[in-house]
Amino acid sequence: MAGNWKMYKTPAETHAFFEAFKPLVAQATHCEIVICPPFPDLHAAMKEAEGSNVAIGAQNLYWGKEGAVTGEVSGHMLQAIGCGYVIIAHSERRQYFGECEPDVVRKTQAALEYGLTPIVCVGERLEERESGRTEDVLGEMFEGGIAPLAPEQFAQIVIAYEPVWAIGTGKTATPQIAAEAHRFIRGKVSARFGDAAAGDVRILYGGSVKPDNVKGLMREEEIDGALVGGASLDPKSFAGVVNF
Ligand code: 13P
Repeated sequence: MAGNWKMYKTPAETHAFFEAFKPLVAQATHCEIVICPPFPDLHAAMKEAEGSNVAIGAQNLYWGKEGAVTGEVSGHMLQAIGCGYVIIAHSERRQYFGECEPDVVRKTQAALEYGLTPIVCVGERLEERESGRTEDVLGEMFEGGIAPLAPEQFAQIVIAYEPVWAIGTGKTATPQIAAEAHRFIRGKVSARFGDAAAGDVRILYGGSVKPDNVKGLMREEEIDGALVGGASLDPKSFAGVVNF
């Protein structure tokens, strides 16, 4: 269960979140819990999460180790502060910053090189779904961004299916719609990396996941977890998702 804070919270707010959140999920052993705050909050989050069952992830990385790349943060730096995860190619990064499949491959490989678990996002836009192109789009994202990975690299990634039309809109995909997309992605995994890899890979669903709809989603065998935006900002509501 991963929370993506996007561009919300200061270090002081991060501290307040963890104070309230940690006791609410202290008994949770059924899943991994990850919080992905903005870069300036990572240090505070790492300190707060120390000794708890909450892991910390970043929301982006650059693929080089270091260099003249103004405004970017490397996997090497994230590893050095003890970060365990990193979100790659979130639809907001694809949409506002033009991230595309070659970036996904470079960033995923860089994350793995520095010991970070990549959470690689895929998902179709509303017009793509409405014009019946969902599977084409997911297929292209898979072929361009994930299929080029070596099998041993693929074995270490988490995939997040986030239909863009469900993000921040309150329109969750029904459990059936989400499961259908997950099944399609798993089929692509099976064709490229084999049945065992398809069975093992964790596919998270993201898009308006809340405490009151998470149960229905998690009942689907295809759905292995959730990537949560808005509802991860409040300790009680994210704990409600974690403890579904
Ligand atoms: P919401 O949960 O706010 O719809 O955001 C989903 C998301 O984009 C998580 O990465």
